[in-house]
Amino acid sequence: MKRIVPGEVSTGELHQYLLGSVSPRPIAFASTINKDGVNNIAPYSFFNCFSSNPPILVFSSNRRVSDNTTKDTLANIEANGEVVINAVNYNIVRQMAVASVGFPDDVSEFEKSGLTPIPAEKISPMRIAESPAQLECKVQQIIPLGDKGGAGHLIICEVVMMHISEDVLDPDGKINPHKMDLMGRMGRAFYVRASGANVMPIFQNVNEMVIGFDQLPTHVRQSNILTGNNLGQLAGLKAWPNKESATAFFDKDENLEAKLKQCESAEAKFQMAKDLLENGDQREAAAAVIAMI
Ligand SMILES: Cc1cc2nc3c(=O)[nH]c(=O)nc-3n(C[C@H](O)[C@H](O)[C@H](O)COP(=O)(O)O)c2cc1C
Repeated sequence: MKRIVPGEVSTGELHQYLLGSVSPRPIAFASTINKDGVNNIAPYSFFNCFSSNPPILVFSSNRRVSDNTTKDTLANIEANGEVVINAVNYNIVRQMAVASVGFPDDVSEFEKSGLTPIPAEKISPMRIAESPAQLECKVQQIIPLGDKGGAGHLIICEVVMMHISEDVLDPDGKINPHKMDLMGRMGRAFYVRASGANVMPIFQNVNEMVIGFDQLPTHVRQSNILTGNNLGQLAGLKAWPNKESATAFFDKDENLEAKLKQCESAEAKFQMAKDLLENGDQREAAAAVIAMI
């Protein structure tokens, strides 16, 4: 492993190692208003949600590494304590990139990026109309993390009102990630688009005990065919089947039984289990196949 000791590399270099390692990050497209009433928007990816009750978001505005200056968003929040945090999806990511340019504080990035300001309900900064989720926030606290270039200021925000586009909701009212189509920031100039094949569900019941990796039979753990992810799926089972319960499983599923009969070797059975795990997370079926080895 490459070893990196903070203090032994430049701040710029360390910054890139941090960003590439803590990645992808959600993006807060922060909308604030300055003392002269100019609307400001800028993206911040040192950002996350830290509490639901109370609803708390935190992002960090850093001192520029080049000249140790601070940013307009921070100055505006220090002046009036309000910010709208807008989500960034694929449709607006290029306009967001324009808004990240260091325009002077008397220039509104709404005009420069072509995004549309619409009034918030509870605070004075504008929402970004094109954003699929707009969170109106009152700032509770600003915590400076240092006084040198690269030092952050944690901006702790309480959400007082959320607006979510009906277009990203499923009929049951839940957010559909594919419709939301959010962007994440990675290291260097890389972004990730969170929709399509890159979004996957991982179902794991956390309210009931499971067997865990250590209770998987040794020959299963040592299989050259199953991956760490496959074993993770099997470790999430409530119980490991014996031959009897596996046979009962196949009695209920003729197709599976027919496929199993075609597997002549242990390798073929492991491969069948792997396919079941990777196509639809069929863990009980996969475990039953392995139990027949
Ligand atoms: C996707 C993205 C994420 C960014 N994240 C941060 C961040 O977390 N902290 C920060 O200080 N600057 C961040 N920046 C840089 C600021 O957006 C940039 O310095 C901007 O000009 C600040 O605008 P302001 O002076 O109007 O606040 C980011 C830029 C981009 C494009």
